[in-house]
Amino acid sequence: MSKQYSFAMLKPGVLQRRLAGEIITRIERKGLSLHAFKLLRISRAQAEEHYREHHEQPFFKDLVDYITSGPVLAMIIGGDEAVAVLRTLCGATRIEQALPGTIRGDFADHTRKNIIHASDSPESAEREIRLFFRPEELVEWNDGNEEWI
Ligand code: CMP
Repeated sequence: MSKQYSFAMLKPGVLQRRLAGEIITRIERKGLSLHAFKLLRISRAQAEEHYREHHEQPFFKDLVDYITSGPVLAMIIGGDEAVAVLRTLCGATRIEQALPGTIRGDFADHTRKNIIHASDSPESAEREIRLFFRPEELVEWNDGNEEWI
């Protein structure tokens, strides 16, 4: 096991449906921790860079249209094996494969609007964190910090 940071983004529908608190609760309940948090409306250029690996896909334009259509919540999430743990919490990308009990399985009704993006590898996490946060915006903390008590 090793401490990792992952990048997550709650998609526009989450704020519209007032689901942000529910999703963040699920992330925290699993024992993952928030290290940065930003509400923003991303530019087309940022969205195209973020989703560059899907550039050739037929759904690319719709994906960029959607993610830029309203505010998103960008987050840095930390914890042991945070990248894989967060992906498991999210569930499968495609709604018909996302199991009940996962975030997408419980809330997503359209694959493009599948509630949450989460990095698929530590390398992607590093790249995506860099795209949305400056290094000094990552707040390091741990549960055993006695100065807080
Ligand atoms: P996300 O985890 O944000 O990463 C890429 C996104 O592309 C994915 O979630 C979906 O929102 C979207 N996506 C993947 N496959 C399809 C598809 N077949 N049709 C529409 N959107 C898709």
